[in-house]
Amino acid sequence: MAEKNIMDYETVELDDNDSSVVIIDQTLLPGKTEIIRLHTAQEIWDAIYLLKVRGAPAIGVAAAFGIYVLAKNIVKDFRADGVKDAGENREMPFGEFYEKFKEQKEYLNSSRPTAVNLSWALNRMEAVCLQAGREEQKPVTEVLEILHKEAVEIKEEDTWVCKTIGEYGLSLVKPGDGILTHCNAGQLATSKYGTATAPIYLGQERGYGFKVFADETRPLLQGARLTAYELHSSGVDVTLICDNMSAMVMKNGWVNAVFVGCDRVAANGDAANKIGTSVVATVAKRYGVPFYVCAPTSTIDYDTPTGAEIKIEQRPAEEVTEMWYKERMAPEGVKVFNPAFDVTDNDLITAIVTEYGIARAPFKESLEEIRQKKISAQKDKNQ
Ligand code: MRU
Repeated sequence: MAEKNIMDYETVELDDNDSSVVIIDQTLLPGKTEIIRLHTAQEIWDAIYLLKVRGAPAIGVAAAFGIYVLAKNIVKDFRADGVKDAGENREMPFGEFYEKFKEQKEYLNSSRPTAVNLSWALNRMEAVCLQAGREEQKPVTEVLEILHKEAVEIKEEDTWVCKTIGEYGLSLVKPGDGILTHCNAGQLATSKYGTATAPIYLGQERGYGFKVFADETRPLLQGARLTAYELHSSGVDVTLICDNMSAMVMKNGWVNAVFVGCDRVAANGDAANKIGTSVVATVAKRYGVPFYVCAPTSTIDYDTPTGAEIKIEQRPAEEVTEMWYKERMAPEGVKVFNPAFDVTDNDLITAIVTEYGIARAPFKESLEEIRQKKISAQKDKNQ
């Protein structure tokens, strides 16, 4: 039997019968493809914190499936207790259920601070939970069904969102172009296609023959381990470069466009993404290369006015000093600064590509237009 390609795997799945979130452990890629099952709040939290599942949209999907699984467990535990007194099929009072649901939601939400998709997905799940249980007074058994439906929808929407971003992104480049990307905003960070890689995959299907440069992305090597892996496995012409080589390839004229993903876009267009992104944007500006941020609207945080208010995750020093090396590569006791993300100022961004169109400066206005387009599309859908 032919060996399975990494692109044939689902990044995040729900196994409802097993009450688990099923993911590829991305910390082991590309050497080993191991599928793991997350059943408990601790397992889900750890998987997100340790980047076994990572990338803003995939974190959102994992959190949505995660809170659904935990909601099922809340009801199961209640019924198990009920065996002693009122019987195992009795309905759990919504108030009691919601108190525990909210606790679990807040716990999952504390796993990573920068990617807004985490709280976005959890808030969406909470909203349907309250609508069904509190407003419509539905029994908790039905609330669970509604939570299941919402989580599945979050995942399905993500595929449409990525593909649509890909179509808009593709309109910004031409066959044979050189494209540079940073970190992994690929299929492994989403349900399918990725965001920054979506124009590349769609172009690949249509014979565009792009030449892609993937930054290795220190310190966790998402570019080398994940982006280079998935593009190479898909037959895309990809060249891996160290993070400090982007100026050279741009100066050489090998790059016609930069596409990156993002973890949170502020209302003014400042965009947080993997550490090193703002260096790439600065270099791109120097060499006149357009710099595009691919952003599902779930990543736009209209409540955060500018990048200065975005909380940047700080990670353990060991990721810089020893992780991935055979032996420690820094002196014992040396001070380490390890922010996981940086903010690219909006004046370095040529355009922000969303599933509702392409926003250009002034971003406060253009992102607001995108928001209005989304609201009216949703109204049409609900009619
Ligand atoms: O720390 P990570 O690997 O979760 O960081 C991922 C990124 O910075 C991605 O570019 C971003 O989440 C967009 S994924 C479509």
